Amino acid sequence: MWGDTVDERSDIETLTRAQARWELNRLAHVLDRANTAYHGHDAPEISDAEYDRLKQRNAAIEARFPDLKRADSPSDKVGAQPAAGFGKITHRQRMMSLGNAFEPQDVVDFDAGIRRYLGLGAADALAYTAEPKIDGLSLSLRYEDGKLVQAATRGDGAVGENVTKNARTITDIPERLSGAPAILEVRGEVYMSHPDFADLNARQEQAGARTFANPRNAAAGSLRQLDPDVTAARPLRFFAYGWGELSAPLAETQMQAIGRLAELGFQTNPLTTLCDGPDAMLARYVEIEAQRAMLGYDIDGVVYKIDDLGLQARLGYRSTTPRWAIAHKFPAELAWTRLEAIDIQVGRTGALSPVARLTPVTVGGVVVANATLHNEDYIAGRSASGETIRGGKDIRVGDWVQVYRAGDVIPKIADVDLDQRPENAEPYDFPQKCPECGSDAIREEGDAVRRCTGGLICPAQAVEKLRHFVSRAAFDIEGLGAKQVEQFYADGWIAEPADIFTLKDRYGSGLQQLKNREGWGEKSAANLFAAIDDKRRIALERFIFALGLRHVGEVAATTLARHFMSWGALAEAADRAAREPAFSAPDAKARKAALPDSPAWSEMTGIDGIGDVLTEALVTALAQQRERASIDRLAGMLEIEPPAPRAADSPVHGKTIVFTGTLEKMTRAEAKARAEALGAKVAGTVSARTDLVVAGPGAGSKIKKAQELGIETLDEDGWLDLIGRA
Ligand code: IVH
Repeated sequence: MWGDTVDERSDIETLTRAQARWELNRLAHVLDRANTAYHGHDAPEISDAEYDRLKQRNAAIEARFPDLKRADSPSDKVGAQPAAGFGKITHRQRMMSLGNAFEPQDVVDFDAGIRRYLGLGAADALAYTAEPKIDGLSLSLRYEDGKLVQAATRGDGAVGENVTKNARTITDIPERLSGAPAILEVRGEVYMSHPDFADLNARQEQAGARTFANPRNAAAGSLRQLDPDVTAARPLRFFAYGWGELSAPLAETQMQAIGRLAELGFQTNPLTTLCDGPDAMLARYVEIEAQRAMLGYDIDGVVYKIDDLGLQARLGYRSTTPRWAIAHKFPAELAWTRLEAIDIQVGRTGALSPVARLTPVTVGGVVVANATLHNEDYIAGRSASGETIRGGKDIRVGDWVQVYRAGDVIPKIADVDLDQRPENAEPYDFPQKCPECGSDAIREEGDAVRRCTGGLICPAQAVEKLRHFVSRAAFDIEGLGAKQVEQFYADGWIAEPADIFTLKDRYGSGLQQLKNREGWGEKSAANLFAAIDDKRRIALERFIFALGLRHVGEVAATTLARHFMSWGALAEAADRAAREPAFSAPDAKARKAALPDSPAWSEMTGIDGIGDVLTEALVTALAQQRERASIDRLAGMLEIEPPAPRAADSPVHGKTIVFTGTLEKMTRAEAKARAEALGAKVAGTVSARTDLVVAGPGAGSKIKKAQELGIETLDEDGWLDLIGRA
């Protein structure tokens, strides 16, 4: 079985017939699914680049094994079956797709192929139009005697959806034409501009409706509304770039025909130009790509078409694509745009994160307006280890930058075009003060990130700290989620975690009451107070984690809890460590030398899984007076429970225990459960394999037997001392 399957990357040249058949089958399914997602539901599942790659792979395998080409080959398909809900329209002339060029060589080959087909020499003149490839959805408009009678989507190329009513709501689409041929089918692209897209998404969000990933999806979703009133409320536009059935020719050349469509009242793309061959086409491609971010709408390549319509007719079509045109695609996951500003965001742990604000541009199907700039070294063109990145080019406000997305991660800046740098652009001056609270922002040794020292007095950190404090793995207070905490913070009801536990005293009665707040009532307020009371007893590890200290995640919190067993012991150790020479050592070497004089520091760093970095962060945090006072206030209101000893650490782990007589402090069942929780086995009779007998008053033969066998016996108090829960 495995022998017939194919690794995604395996080389087509080495495929066996069986593997090729298997792979063609797989690609047919994947592409079919992708088509349906893209055209049928306006929600693409794979990127355009990935789609193109799969389609190319499919074609390459078919070229090697022509007899294996499937009857339903993806190569012969355009788009998907029309969706249900709209009437169907059979196109009088099929709506074709375009072949793709990715590399300059593909464009050179395109020209050479045409010359060969037409029997032209390399020196013969041959003109092409070059125009942007609009990233929208194609539409065919049928005019009879100058009146719009029908509008259809492409569908599968042969049959599309009847969207006439919706098309009539688009202002770029004239209802009447004067001077047009009696039958004229105009073809073009419906699209949405960037500002309109942003407005629409903002409105959708406000209305609690779904937002669109990119303008193309928004355009498709808007055109394919069953209710034309919805389409009418969506700002769609239309560029005309071609035609279908005609009762009389429009012109002799593509360029003239486009001019004719413009005269008739259609929008045509102003960037359309004539080129006299591949060199000019490639130069035009570069020019159009350079304007891409400024156009205000999405384009995903440049389309070249033979200008002479007589030659277009001679060249004709392959199964789904014309021989006389090709789409030269832009690299999908990269785009150039302008860096408008650098903003600094302050995170929960006080990290100052620079964020690039960009002129919005679509990268891999998503509009990108922000990108991460990581930290100040990154902006300066250095890596954390001091090596140069981007060839040492720094990033400045006003720069022309290349944005990329890898997978679903936050967009990043890949490159800077120094040739386009504005003359007055200044190197970025990273702030030394926190933009939120004005406290000093400092960089620890070996830390790439600059951090605010404001702790709880910094609003950015306070609200983040509160959010973290109430999160699932921390205090997890029912009815007090991130949203509520943010509102309470905004209204000044809660400024620090301790305030949560005085909420009832302050807002349970009196003038201002929780139950009178919007969104609250008698019952929900009472429930919240009860839920808060519930958490006055809290496990030490949760308490430590909830503080949101740098580097102290759940695992470290548990490790610290197990080691120190109480908040007091941990805090005291940190305080001692803060006074020791190892803590103030200027570098790693000095720190090592200071270890013998630093017992508390050594104890902490010696804990398995803790180490220098965490110790330094913990000791530093607990040494901040205002932050520490806030933690102490909180701890004073709570009952912080030490963690249960782990079974493996317990003195009875692996031992066999017999309980006998009457236990006074717990039932027999409870004693058994506890012993088992500590890893012991509980037996009913005493034998040579028994390790311990716990005997209460009234114990009889069992205790005698134990004594005979020399087995250790304990009374109930002795047992409780042993397991540490007297
Ligand atoms: S010409 C027979 N020109 O790209 C040729 N298509 O990938 C018909 N498109 O289905 C297409 N801008 O939806 C042409 N300037 C342009 C275009 C364009 C966008 C779309 C169109 C077509 C698809 C092919």
